Amino acid sequence: MATYDTVIRNGQVADGTGKKLFAADVALKGDRIAAVEAPGSLKGNNEIDAQGKVVAPGFIDVHTHDDTALIDNPTMAMKASQGVTTVVCGNCGASAAPYIRDDYGHFLSLIVKRVENVSKTFAEFAAKVEVAKPAINGAFLIGHSTLRMNAMGDDLARQATAAEIGVMRDLLDQSLEQGAIGMSSGLFYPPAMAASTDEVAEIAKPLGKWGGVYTAHMRDEGDDVLKSMDETFEIGRRAGAEVIVSHHKCSGRTNFGRMKETLPKFTEAMKQQQIAFDVYPYVAGSTILRKEMLDRADKVLISWSDTVKGVSGRDLKDIAQEMGCSIYEAADRLQPAGAIYFMMDEKDVQAAMSHPGAMIGSDGIPFDTHPHPRLWGTFPRVLGHYSRDLKLFPLEDAVRRMTSYSAQRFHLTKRGEVKPGFYADICIFDPATVIDTATFEKPISAAKGIDTVLCNGEIVWRDGKPGAGRAGRALKRQDLQAEAKASA
Ligand code: ZN
Ligand code: CU
Repeated sequence: MATYDTVIRNGQVADGTGKKLFAADVALKGDRIAAVEAPGSLKGNNEIDAQGKVVAPGFIDVHTHDDTALIDNPTMAMKASQGVTTVVCGNCGASAAPYIRDDYGHFLSLIVKRVENVSKTFAEFAAKVEVAKPAINGAFLIGHSTLRMNAMGDDLARQATAAEIGVMRDLLDQSLEQGAIGMSSGLFYPPAMAASTDEVAEIAKPLGKWGGVYTAHMRDEGDDVLKSMDETFEIGRRAGAEVIVSHHKCSGRTNFGRMKETLPKFTEAMKQQQIAFDVYPYVAGSTILRKEMLDRADKVLISWSDTVKGVSGRDLKDIAQEMGCSIYEAADRLQPAGAIYFMMDEKDVQAAMSHPGAMIGSDGIPFDTHPHPRLWGTFPRVLGHYSRDLKLFPLEDAVRRMTSYSAQRFHLTKRGEVKPGFYADICIFDPATVIDTATFEKPISAAKGIDTVLCNGEIVWRDGKPGAGRAGRALKRQDLQAEAKASA
């Protein structure tokens, strides 16, 4: 009998494909899963008892802003504590590379807290991640807004010229060659609002050539959500790229219930081209503080402010009252700042999450003083609250939407399944107790019921705290594609 490095014994395997739970032992050797066999048949130097637990692939958080958190906060406890072993970074148009300027503005402060972490090339950035030895893996998109800031400086409130489009296209091309896995856009945000559909489609052309994906924080997630979907799909078609719509929502009270329009539209469009979307399991969103968004929200909490201390976690209405001014004026005085906006319908969130095209992404913002609870709670909340308690979908399907389906959509080769030959990214959790504990009041709080988490064969979370494992990698396009080719 072969002896493996580690055998996870007596667990129920949710292999990531959606297949029904089955009893098996899982053997790991080096950074890979070596065997999945009948209980009691495998021997390891180390054994992990998973009696009563589920053994699942490590979760893939497909929508994050963890680009530089992987460098500054390499244990990545906010994610490892949820069972997450891979984060897809660079979303919503914001990436930390390629960035040729020495300063970074309000928009990039969403993802950057130290200027040393922005990098002139993607290769240089990926090297910084590798030097930091994060506990979990990162895969990286290039932000269209970041490209704009390179090519257009601060003169962003206009369409790019043909020459500027050329510069951006070349920067994207070079970044994809160096290992980025796609491009994201954030046409909703000021740095990219003035960009036309043509501009984005032209810049995105290298995606087709390199097999990169296109993710979109759409221009409008409210009244014009359908129009924005058409625009997003068109950009994907013109670039020859697979499309992922980020954090799909119908935002603002007047748009509550409109998943009845957007979801059938997704279903139809999915017959024509490759499209998917991600969802986070909350009725509130979070981003930078923007006056334009105040009317759309029923309630606004401040998540951070650089100018006024002691406001994080507080209701903007109360802050305005104390200041003796309107909420709009208060928002001005707090800038630069971030906020949490209550602006979605619970039924819509559930409908989106259950759609066959949906996967789970947290959209957590790692550096906020008082972050949205999705940063620490997303995955256990889907497993415990939505799957187990509300029975929105079976546990196996919840796991699939966090693992194999996500790996397929982002082409993360050999991740997302408990299967021999796949990487040893594993989350062992208790299906009876798993639940998020992060709340809007107390958002920094590790989930319950996540037992042991391994990334590339090393323990990154155990007994309620980070493990010693620091074997996370920057997953690069060329390596992922070479491995896919070799195993085809
Ligand atoms: Zn976004
Ligand atoms: Cu985002």
